[in-house]
Amino acid sequence: MAKCSTILLSSLIAAITVQAQKPKAATAQTPKIATAAQAPPMGWMSWNAFGPNITEDLLKQTADALVSSGMKDAGYKYIFIDDGWQGTRDAQHHLHPDPKKFPSGIRALADYVHSKGLRLGIYSDAAPRTCGGFTGSLGFEKQDAADFAAWGIDYLKYDYCNAPEDSATAKTRYTTMYKALAASGRKILLGICEWGVRQPWRWAAGAGGTVWRTSGDIRDKWKARPNEEGMGILDIVDINAPLDQYAKKGHWNDPDMLVAGLYGKKGPASDLGGTGCNDLEYQSQFSLYCIMAAPLAASNDLRNLNGYTKTILTNKEAISIDQDALGIQGKRLVNDDTWEIFLKPLANGDTAVAILNKADQPQAADIRWPDLGLNGAYKVRDVWSHREIKEIGTVKSHETRLLRLRRI
Ligand code: GLA
Repeated sequence: MAKCSTILLSSLIAAITVQAQKPKAATAQTPKIATAAQAPPMGWMSWNAFGPNITEDLLKQTADALVSSGMKDAGYKYIFIDDGWQGTRDAQHHLHPDPKKFPSGIRALADYVHSKGLRLGIYSDAAPRTCGGFTGSLGFEKQDAADFAAWGIDYLKYDYCNAPEDSATAKTRYTTMYKALAASGRKILLGICEWGVRQPWRWAAGAGGTVWRTSGDIRDKWKARPNEEGMGILDIVDINAPLDQYAKKGHWNDPDMLVAGLYGKKGPASDLGGTGCNDLEYQSQFSLYCIMAAPLAASNDLRNLNGYTKTILTNKEAISIDQDALGIQGKRLVNDDTWEIFLKPLANGDTAVAILNKADQPQAADIRWPDLGLNGAYKVRDVWSHREIKEIGTVKSHETRLLRLRRI
C-alpha cells in the first residue's frame, strides 16, 4: 500500500496547514438572523420520488413512517412539502392548496405533523410561477408568509425558476421573503434554492438563508457519463466540497437531497440518466454529506423502506458528525484520480475522517495520520461497523469509510 501513501503525501503537502481544531470566526458581514438553524436541517422532501404528485394522505403516511422507522429518533424533524401543493389565489390574494390533493387544508396537515413531534416545510418560488408551473409568491410575499405562519409552517424552500438571471434581483427577492417570514410572527426557516448559479454561498446567509443549494438537481446516479446532462452524487460532492469556508453554524451549503433508497424509481430523480445507485453508493453519499455538514433530506418512499436504506439513514454515529455542535463543514484534503479524503473537527476534540474510493475497483488505503495533519496517537472508530479498528484495509469501489478519531 506504499503506492497509496505516496499519493497521499504528495497531494497533502499543501493541505497540511488545515486548521483542523479551529472553528472559523463568523465573518463581519453575516448578520445575526433569529431564524437560523443550529444544525443542518434533517427531514424528508417530497420531490425526488413523487414530483408534484403529492397529497395530504401521502404526507401523513410519510410522517407516520418517519416516526415508526426510527428516523425521527435519529434526528429527522421535517416533512418538506415540495412543489405541486398549490392551487389558486382567491380574490383577496390568499394562495390555497390544491383542494383535490389537500382537501383538509395545510393547517390540518401541519397539526397532524406537529402532533407527531415533527415540523412542516413548504415550497414556493420568487417569481409568478414555480419550476413546476404552479403559483409562485412574487409580489405576495407578505401575504404568503402570513398564511404560512397561520398554517403552522416551520420552513420555506424558496425556489428561483422564472426569475431574472442577475444576482442583485435574487438577493432582493430572497431578502424580501426573509423579511416577510421574520415579520410573520412564527419562526420559519428559509431555504434558498437558486442552484448555486449566482454563488449564493457569498450572499445567501445575509439574505436570511439557513441553507442554500449549491448545485442543480441531483439525479439518482453515482456520476454523470461524459456529456450526460443530470448530475449524480459525485458530481454534486465535487461542487459542494470546495465551499467549506462558507458554511458555518446556522448557515449551510445544501448539496440537494439524499437519494438513498430510490433505486431508479420513476420520478424527477430518475430523469436524465437517474437509473439508480447501489447501496454502497447511497451509503457513500450519506457519509460524504455528514462530513460536509449538509442538510439531510431523505427523498425515497419511506412507506417502503428496506433494511439497508434504514441502516444508512438512521446511523446515529454518522448523524452526530453531521450535526456536530461546532458546525464546521469538513475540508477535502485529498482529491486525486481515485481517492478523496475529508477531515472535520468535532466539538469534543475528536476528528471525523471520510475516505472515498472513487476507483471502479477496490483499493487498499494505508493512511498515515500525520499526513493529514493529525499528529499523536488515535483510537479509530469505524462509524459503519461501529467498531474500533486498527487499520483501514481495503476500501470497496465507490465506498466511503467514515471514521471518528479520538486522541489517546
Ligand atoms: C427545482 C428545484 C427542485 C424542486 C423542483 C420543483 O428544480 O431545484 O429541488 O424543488 O424545482 O419544481
